[in-house]
Amino acid sequence: MTAPRRRQWSLRRRLVVGIVALLAGVGIVVGSISVLALRQNLVARLDAQLDRVLTVATAPGGRIPSVGEPTDAGFRLTATVVVVSSGDQVQSVYLGSDRPPTPLTEQAQERLLQVEPGHGAETVTLDGLGSFRVEAVQTPVGTTVVGLSLAEVTATTTNLALIFGSVTLATVLLAATIGTFVVRVALRPLGRVAATATRVAELPLSTGAVSLAERVPEEDTDPDTEVGQVGAALNLMLGHVEQALQSRQASEQKVRQFVADASHELRTPLASIRGYSELTRRAGETLPPDTTRALARIESESIRMTGLVEDLLLLARLDEGRELVFSEVDLVPLLADAVSDAQAAGPEHRWLLDVPDHPVIVEGDGARLHQVVANLLANAHWHTTPGTLVSAAVREDDGWGIVTVEDDGPGIPESLQPLLFERFARGDGSRSRETGGTGLGLAIVAAVVDAHHGEVAVESAPGRTRFTVRLPLARTDTEDTLEDPRPASMDA
Ligand SMILES: Nc1ncnc2c1ncn2[C@@H]1O[C@H](COP(=O)(O)OP(=O)(O)OP(=O)(O)O)[C@@H](O)[C@H]1O
Ligand SMILES: [Mg+2]
Repeated sequence: MTAPRRRQWSLRRRLVVGIVALLAGVGIVVGSISVLALRQNLVARLDAQLDRVLTVATAPGGRIPSVGEPTDAGFRLTATVVVVSSGDQVQSVYLGSDRPPTPLTEQAQERLLQVEPGHGAETVTLDGLGSFRVEAVQTPVGTTVVGLSLAEVTATTTNLALIFGSVTLATVLLAATIGTFVVRVALRPLGRVAATATRVAELPLSTGAVSLAERVPEEDTDPDTEVGQVGAALNLMLGHVEQALQSRQASEQKVRQFVADASHELRTPLASIRGYSELTRRAGETLPPDTTRALARIESESIRMTGLVEDLLLLARLDEGRELVFSEVDLVPLLADAVSDAQAAGPEHRWLLDVPDHPVIVEGDGARLHQVVANLLANAHWHTTPGTLVSAAVREDDGWGIVTVEDDGPGIPESLQPLLFERFARGDGSRSRETGGTGLGLAIVAAVVDAHHGEVAVESAPGRTRFTVRLPLARTDTEDTLEDPRPASMDA
């Protein structure tokens, strides 16, 4: 059992997703670095202001500048927290433009007093007041802690982050839209190349005359583009394949022609051999018995060889698509005649004919269809023992005329069944047979049925062998007026 194949992404999707991911990545990295750098910068500036405020506040007679007013260094304070402790006394205040100066909660005071003096600024978050850059200094009387609000720094950096975020998002959306369009247009030629390849793949290249007219359109074979290279390579390959198929076809044609010519040429000398041997045997009352027997053998072998040559010629001509003469053929009298011929040839077998009382008309070559039925009946005769029941039937079914030949003989060896319709495929019994089958009978059946766009099938087991030939019915409106009513069944 194979694991189900994972669905792959299309090239178009991969390209667009790749572009979008790249842009988003670049946006995020550039944005984050910028925002971090800005924040660091602003915090450093705030720290410098904090130093300044501390210096002023702890100088003798110094004070914290009021919030909002420009300081002597030129900056304005935003929210500020101050804690002054001297001995047991602790005083604290929050100075902000949003409310009047208010003392800090005990918790906030304690948190601020934890800041070590002389260790520079650190960030402290106070409940309800936000984050501050806080620094402590040791004064002769105690400790002074001052914190400047980080609210503005945070607002500025958040703003910048938002701007970067929206710009990145807009860029990504735009890139996705334009990218999809561009990639689709760029890959359109690839679709046309694939369509050409698909059309070629659908051609029946394994049989028959081959014309491989499909080519990738000229505009998709530009060697300066990747798709063009694929298109050009495909065209080159199609050219080679066409050549190869044509030379294969030509050599097949030559072989067929050779077989047809050879068979044809052999007919005349064979007829002469047969004629002369017959003549000599008839006239040769004075010949010794051995010579007479030899002449009889020559005669029978030449008859057999004539049959073989006829079969080869017929197969070669069927391969070429020649030979058939089409007309409307009624399968009912055709089968009836063939069965009565077979019955004459094999009177020790029991023959049964089952035909409908109306004609079954197919479009075909009467002589060849007769040969098909005769070959099947001959097989049922020659490859079974005397007394075997052979039933032949014809019927109509859903647009098909169906002929079946069934016998209750020994059946076809299982090893032979897959090759049964191949040329020269025959069972051991046939090889040793007095008259010697050639193994072409069923190959001819298959070739003739195929040339009629029909099907032949076999089911065989000891005691029951059944050949079924299906031929498309002729499209005719005259069926009702044709007169040739046959007995529905004839037991021979
Ligand atoms: N009705 C059948 N019962 C048993 N074996 C069969 C039957 N029909 C065909 N066969 C087997 O299939 C083989 C191939 O048949 P096919 O008609 O092609 O050749 P053949 O009869 O041996 O020779 P040919 O028909 O050319 O004289 C036969 O040799 C025989 O072994
Ligand atoms: Mg045969």
